[in-house]
Amino acid sequence: MSSNRPSVVVILAAGEGKRMKSATPKVLHSVAGRSLLGHVIEAAATLEPQHLVVVIGHGREQVQEHIDEIAPWAVTVVQEEQKGTGHAVRVALAGLAERGISAEAGPVVVLTGDTPLLTGGTLVSLLLEHTSTQASATVLTARLDDPTGYGRIVREADGAVSAIVEHKDADEAHLRIDEINSGMYAFDSAALADALGRLTTDNAQGEEYLTDAIALLRDRALTVAASVCADHHEILGVNDRVQLAEAAGIMRDRLNDRWMREGVTMVDPATTWLDVDVELEADVLIRPQVTLRGPTSVASGAIIGPSTTLTSCEVASGAEVIHTWAELAVIGERAKVGPFTYLRPGAVLGASTKAGAYVEIKNSTLGDGAKVPHLSYVGDADIGAGSNIGAATVTVNYDGVEKHRTIVGEHARVGSDTMLVAPVTVGDGAYTAAGSVITEDVPAGAMAVGRSRQRNVEGWVERRRPGSPAAEAAERARQDDSHDRPSESA
Ligand code: UD1
Ligand code: MG
Repeated sequence: MSSNRPSVVVILAAGEGKRMKSATPKVLHSVAGRSLLGHVIEAAATLEPQHLVVVIGHGREQVQEHIDEIAPWAVTVVQEEQKGTGHAVRVALAGLAERGISAEAGPVVVLTGDTPLLTGGTLVSLLLEHTSTQASATVLTARLDDPTGYGRIVREADGAVSAIVEHKDADEAHLRIDEINSGMYAFDSAALADALGRLTTDNAQGEEYLTDAIALLRDRALTVAASVCADHHEILGVNDRVQLAEAAGIMRDRLNDRWMREGVTMVDPATTWLDVDVELEADVLIRPQVTLRGPTSVASGAIIGPSTTLTSCEVASGAEVIHTWAELAVIGERAKVGPFTYLRPGAVLGASTKAGAYVEIKNSTLGDGAKVPHLSYVGDADIGAGSNIGAATVTVNYDGVEKHRTIVGEHARVGSDTMLVAPVTVGDGAYTAAGSVITEDVPAGAMAVGRSRQRNVEGWVERRRPGSPAAEAAERARQDDSHDRPSESA
């Protein structure tokens, strides 16, 4: 890549994206967990450009903040007014020059910030075509069944590109051309600088069109080449929410195909949504309705779904996670999670653990083999290996001001409906009685009873609720009871 390594990649992202009807700048909308702009930057990075410059304008503070986060090495140049794609590139190169950066050391590649399906491979082909033809400019083009709205590629009899005509400026003959301009190009840097200096605003939109650079280069008798994109989806620009969903669907299929070829079984790829940073091992099984977001990783033999959303989670081999919503959680080997389980940030489940139905776990560790099978809240707690947390147990971790920790030792048995009022410690091997409110530490091996003793008031129902179905049932039970009793004479 060294010989044709671009000096500069320019990404145009100053436009408003009106049709999105959004408070969020268009290029910050995302597909598969990465912004539209992020996808383009990722593809551009494949070319290892010496400099990457993003032209920003509308929503510049938000876009700048995002770039600082995902690509702090990129340069941004502000285009105050959107006077056209040619103007934008001119502003970009001027902004670089102001920073003492010259574009002369290699080709200049121009991309747009709203084409999330673009791949590095296509850009490599574009540059190869550009260098092998020694062209002054090479346009990335595609053939479309419906070219409406796009600039058309006008070729001469010998196939050489002579001009790009914008849809709004096109005549009947131009409109019949099905080869379109993707809006992405490689330019010889000197030829580009020369052409940019000669652009006019003499067109239907009164803008400086970058596309006019092509005819201007031809006027100088320079070669213009084209690289036809094999998969026209790659140049799909997102302009509205319909196209955003379309791009997301294509990206989903692309990612799912890739993982299935790597040995992942997907029962229903149409309802399986993976972010770009997800990592799956061979022999993972994904059931329907699964969304894996952020840098979620799933190891071999694990089963995910149905109906599960994991965000930035780590799932170890052999674990099974069904009907679960989890974020920033670690699920150990052979652990069983779900159905209807909510794991919040900092939930770390050891090997062979269980987090069952209607269980919420936050900022807590479960030692190997520990179980929280039903209806419990475990927050800010460390549960030792082999311990069992009875149904409906709650760690009472918040006093309204501060959060406190609960420590349960190894092989402890917390009885059903125990309230563990933190800070509190239950020792190794200790038990708590069902229904206890535990406010004091429980020593290892002790049985803690934190509830009042039961008192039965005999005959209360028949006296206080006479004639009620309950009283009648009680009366029948009393009579049956006296018949069963052996007679005193026997
Ligand atoms: C452009 C091309 C057209 C091509 C199409 C592909 C021109 C004149 N036309 O048309 O041939 O088929 O892309 O999608 O280039 N931008 C700026 N500053 C500006 C103007 C635009 O940064 O002053 C950015 C926009 O944010 C956008 C990109 O440049 O990301 C393209 O601009 P847009 O107005 O969408 O051009 P199209 O009319 O789509
Ligand atoms: Mg456009």
